[in-house]
Amino acid sequence: MIVPFLSLEEVTALHGAEINEAVTRTVNSGWYLQGKENKTFEKHFAEYVGAKYCVGCANGLDALTLIFRAYKEMGVMKEGDEVIVPANTFIATVLAITDNGLVPVLCEPKEETLEIDDEQIEGLITPKTKAIALVHLYGRNAYTDRIGELCRKYNLKLVQDCAQSHGLKVNASCAHQVSPHRGDLEGSLVGSFAYSFYPGKNLGALGDGGAVTTDDEELATIIRALANYGSQTKYIFDYEGRNSRLDEIQAAVLDVKLRYLDEDNAHRQMIARYYYDNISNPLVTLPQRLDDTQNVYHIFPVLVAPDHRAALQEHLANNGIGTIIHYPVAPHQQQCYANAPWNKYNTPTADARQLPITESLASRELSLPIGPTITLAQAHHVVEQINKYMR
Ligand SMILES: Cc1ncc(COP(=O)(O)O)c(C=O)c1O
Repeated sequence: MIVPFLSLEEVTALHGAEINEAVTRTVNSGWYLQGKENKTFEKHFAEYVGAKYCVGCANGLDALTLIFRAYKEMGVMKEGDEVIVPANTFIATVLAITDNGLVPVLCEPKEETLEIDDEQIEGLITPKTKAIALVHLYGRNAYTDRIGELCRKYNLKLVQDCAQSHGLKVNASCAHQVSPHRGDLEGSLVGSFAYSFYPGKNLGALGDGGAVTTDDEELATIIRALANYGSQTKYIFDYEGRNSRLDEIQAAVLDVKLRYLDEDNAHRQMIARYYYDNISNPLVTLPQRLDDTQNVYHIFPVLVAPDHRAALQEHLANNGIGTIIHYPVAPHQQQCYANAPWNKYNTPTADARQLPITESLASRELSLPIGPTITLAQAHHVVEQINKYMR
């Protein structure tokens, strides 16, 4: 039996007729940017997440980068200010910070949850700290009340990287959002949320796409301008902007797929339940189990003893099962940051900092197949082969 890590062909085919209709309609419309498909999708996505504003942009990295850039325009932060970010995130979260001349302060995750360790955040806060970049990595909710309290106490912005968490239902009545959209952090903080619609995401386009959602009108207005050369009125440029727009075809496709997001996530949750209930190989550790309001299983990570990971991956491949590592090298160990002045995490200097959990996770993580098209029979095959490994 073949179990691909993710078959985008099958994912698209799930709603193929409607997607084709949406693409054809847009192609035939003769209007490809900043048109009614964007307006419709932005309205629907804002409603879905419970936000006042949604601004489409070119990709998830831009969504994050534009948020920090807009906060700089608003005078909330300036170059050299610090942003606390989980050390085990995908590099884009860190790139958005450094691209803005801000300083990433890397925080260890918790071994059991793989999410930022909220007990370590306060120790990293300095007078220069202006934000926490919270990443709901793998589709797991990373927000805790403690993080909200720290934002209030130190007047920090909460920038949430939701690239892997579309549809996360943290509040029963609210499609995915945590406190900021609900007003719980009223006054001191209105959050911002960055989405990627990279094809493999829970809500994926047929190419690149991204969006920012927020209740902050000023932030939304500035981001919309920044993403359109810095312009709010045609040929008048208030900011030194860039071109980062969601095109009409992608918006039309996303609007179709948004209708099925909850259904697709429920399917992921069903597969995840099967994995949790049946994987029993002692060499494989599963992260802390969360209920379905707390996890949309963008990725199903397991931890394998480091000297077994490659062999297990090979064993699974030999049995037709695709796996991927998210991520083999943490951002602070990447060449691009080897000489970054803020990167005290690699060098054996007096002020060296250590990230042992992040580095250990990078050597042990393995992601199993999960997605809206994986069948229970395929999940059964994955479990059987994992449980057979070395036994
Ligand atoms: C956590 C996280 N942040 C940001 C991004 C960047 O999104 P994009 O690929 O759309 O630029 C991704 C995914 O690629 C991601 O997984």
